[in-house]
Amino acid sequence: MPSQPPLLPVIRDLIRASGPITFHRFMELCLYHPQHGYYNSGRVRLGAAGDFYTSAHVTPVFARILARHFQRTWVSLGRPSTFDLVEMGPGDGLLASELLSRIGQRFPELAACLRYTAVEQSAHLRKRLGESLSCYGDRTRIAEDLTAGTEGEFQGCVFANEFFDALPVHLLVWRDGRWRERYVSLLGDQLQWSEGEPSTPDLAQEADLRFAPGLELPEGESPDGGSKEGWAAEISPQAGTWIERISGRLRRGEILLIDYGYTLEEWQRGRFPQGSALGYRKHQAVYDLLSSPGEQDLTAHVNFSQLTAAAERCGLRVHGLQSQASFLMELGQEDEFGEVFADCDSEAERLRRSQLLKTLILPQGMGEAFRVLRMEKEL
Ligand SMILES: C[S@@+](CC[C@H](N)C(=O)[O-])C[C@H]1O[C@@H](n2cnc3c(N)ncnc32)[C@H](O)[C@@H]1O
Repeated sequence: MPSQPPLLPVIRDLIRASGPITFHRFMELCLYHPQHGYYNSGRVRLGAAGDFYTSAHVTPVFARILARHFQRTWVSLGRPSTFDLVEMGPGDGLLASELLSRIGQRFPELAACLRYTAVEQSAHLRKRLGESLSCYGDRTRIAEDLTAGTEGEFQGCVFANEFFDALPVHLLVWRDGRWRERYVSLLGDQLQWSEGEPSTPDLAQEADLRFAPGLELPEGESPDGGSKEGWAAEISPQAGTWIERISGRLRRGEILLIDYGYTLEEWQRGRFPQGSALGYRKHQAVYDLLSSPGEQDLTAHVNFSQLTAAAERCGLRVHGLQSQASFLMELGQEDEFGEVFADCDSEAERLRRSQLLKTLILPQGMGEAFRVLRMEKEL
C-alpha cells in the first residue's frame, strides 16, 4: 500500500479540531508547513529532475539578459557605489549564481558595487543557496526574511521570478449573486471540497471591488451571456502586502517581477473562470488540488492588476505589463542571443540551444504566458 503523505494526518487533525479550513490555509500548509510543506521538507527539486522548470532552468541566457537589465538600472541610478540586488524566493539559487557569474565577467564595474541578498523562507533551500553562492564571499547574503536581509533602506533592484505564484490564495466562487468561499473539509478520512460564507467580510468586499462580477462587457465579448455563475476569484492577501513591504525598504530603484498571470480585464473576458490554481508533479499538471498534500507544488496565476494597484498605492511608478518575450527580445538582441551560439561545437548543440531559447520566447512556450511587471521609485 502506498504510504500516506505525512502532512495528511496533520490536516485531518486540524479539520477535526476546528472545522473546514480555507483553501488559503490548505495551500499554506502544503507549501510551507515547517516539516512537511513542499518547500520545507527537503523534497523540493527544480529543473529536469524535479517537478517544474522555471525560466532559469531552461537556459542560462535568461540570467544573462537579466544581468544586462540590472546593469542598465545601475547606470540609471547614477552608478552608485553600493547597488543592492535583492531576490525574493530564489529557490535553489540557479538564477542567482548564473547572474552573479555573468555580472562578474561582463560588467565588472557593476560587480564591484554589487551586494546580492537572497530572501528565502525555506531552511533547506537557504542551505543549498549557501553552497552555490559560497564562492562570492561577503558580496552575497542569505536571509529568511526581507527585514532580516536588509538593514534599513537600500537602493538597487528587488526582483522575483515565480515568487508571487507560490503565495497562497483564497478561492471564492460567484453563486446566485454573491460570493461563497471554497473550503477543505473531511468525509471520513477523505479530504473534500465544501463551500460556505467567505471566511472574512474583507474577502467578499475585495472580490466585489476587484473582480466586479456584475460588470457586463459589450455584447459579443462576454462569455456565458454575461452571467458569471460559478466563476472563481482567487485572492492572495500576501501579494499586496509584499509590494508594500518591498516598497517600504526600497529607497531608490526598481522592483522587477516575472511570473505567469492575468489582468482583471482578462478575467472578465473569461480567462480562468474556474480559477487558475494547479498542482505540479514531475512536470505534469495535477488538477486535483487536494491530492498528495505537501508532495506536489501548488501554484496560482498572479493577479497583475492587484499588484499594479498595490504599487500605485505605494506611489511607485508602474510600467505597463510586458510579455516575457518582448522584455527578453528588447534586451537580448544587443548581444546575448548571439553569444548563446558562440561556443557551439556541433550543429546538434546549436539546434538544442536554439530550441531552449525558443521555449523562453515563443508564445507556445513561456514567452506570452509569463509577464514582466516593472515598478520604479525615484529612478
Ligand atoms: C516557485 S519557487 C521559485 C524559485 C526561483 N525563483 C526560480 O525561478 O527558480 C518559489 C520560491 O519562493 C519561496 N518563498 C515563498 N514564500 C516566501 C516568503 N514569504 N519569503 C521568502 N521566500 C518565499 C519558496 O520557498 C520558493 O523557493
